[in-house]
Amino acid sequence: MKSLKKIELHLHLEGAAPPGFIRALAAEKHRDIGGIFDGKGAYAYRDFKDFLRVYEAATSVLTTPRDYARLLSEVLAECAEQGAIYAELFVSPEFCGGADLPAWRDYLAAMEEAAAEAERGGIASRAVLTCIRHFGPDRAKRTAICAAETSGGWVAGLGIGGAEDAGELGDFAWAFDCAREAGLGLTAHAGEWRGPQSIRDALALGATRVGHGIRAVEDAALLRDLAERGITLEVCPGSNVALGLVRDWAAHPIARLADAGVRVTVSTDDPPFFHTTLSQEYQRLADAFGWAEAEFRQMNLWAVDAAFCDQTTRTRLR
Ligand code: ADE
Ligand code: ZN
Repeated sequence: MKSLKKIELHLHLEGAAPPGFIRALAAEKHRDIGGIFDGKGAYAYRDFKDFLRVYEAATSVLTTPRDYARLLSEVLAECAEQGAIYAELFVSPEFCGGADLPAWRDYLAAMEEAAAEAERGGIASRAVLTCIRHFGPDRAKRTAICAAETSGGWVAGLGIGGAEDAGELGDFAWAFDCAREAGLGLTAHAGEWRGPQSIRDALALGATRVGHGIRAVEDAALLRDLAERGITLEVCPGSNVALGLVRDWAAHPIARLADAGVRVTVSTDDPPFFHTTLSQEYQRLADAFGWAEAEFRQMNLWAVDAAFCDQTTRTRLR
């Protein structure tokens, strides 16, 4: 599966940090990040709430533009190793410096340089600045302003992740309006922990893509709507299985979503947290549903259509 050319639309930069990278940075900075690793050095968490805690603790050692740039270089090298030719990185300034400009201009400039270097090596990328839902709408506003002020280059979209049970997506309308007016692409995590209405709420914000969105499978009218409107789901099956949302791979709704005509794509979310890689996601789907190159090629074409990059890049990716 490694040789198949892939598009990854849903990859959290902070969540893609290998545990060794975070441990080394913590040691360099003499910071104690507490017991977030198991005996083998992997991230250890009990459930989704605990995952968010561990995630935040790991992220707390990313404190400079250079940290983010180094992390991005490592993550893009791994993407390329997995056969990805394009990746959209969800970057959450709220974890570091609170999205305050001008500080975040420096972070993004450092990352843009690392991204350009990686692109010369064959892997293109864009950033989706991603609000943290449980940090609330005020901090999201600052992220949206940061995204709007830096849009047009590497920053291509606005997203929202975090605890889906915190408030309502409608509380973040200001942030999404601001980003839309700046010409940014919009995506929102929904239909992961909450039901079909959360996906409708994401669409009401103007999202053309939904992060996860798998619980659309519970609502036939919503499935028709998603299919008709060509909404793309950023499905991360290994994440869903690891977090216990879905019993096992065979029970994953991705095949039912695809059968309903919904544009499904395949991503990894936070690969080291879920002990997965992009090639492994494809392999597991092939094993569970008998999918082969033709099915995966179609999903990657949908991913290219839904990518937030410019048209010239899109044409090159097809
Ligand atoms: N942030 C990182 N991974 C996430 C997930 N699976 N759901 C919501 N927010 C996240
Ligand atoms: Zn995610």
